[in-house]
Amino acid sequence: MSDASSSSSNVTKRHTIEVAQQTVQYDPQDKTLLNSLEKANIEVHYHCRDGFCGACRVTLLTGKICYPNGEPLAFVGENEILPCCCIPVSDVSLSID
Ligand code: FES
Repeated sequence: MSDASSSSSNVTKRHTIEVAQQTVQYDPQDKTLLNSLEKANIEVHYHCRDGFCGACRVTLLTGKICYPNGEPLAFVGENEILPCCCIPVSDVSLSID
């Protein structure tokens, strides 16, 4: 039996990111959602890129993300996420203000 457990399989999958009327692919090699957005030339504000400042905050409209390195310290509202330190675990759609 393979040691690639099913619990981690969603973390290593490609997922679709819908944002600003575009569809972008999340590639696990991107490591963060922010990197995928930047690769697609989608502008997101950022500062620390480490979950501290909250500058990168966007609204998660649908889908699920996770924070592989633990919950970030920056304050986020109920449907807000920090793309600098999260990855999608399903297809997601985002709203960038
Ligand atoms: S860039 Fe600072 S929390 Fe994302």
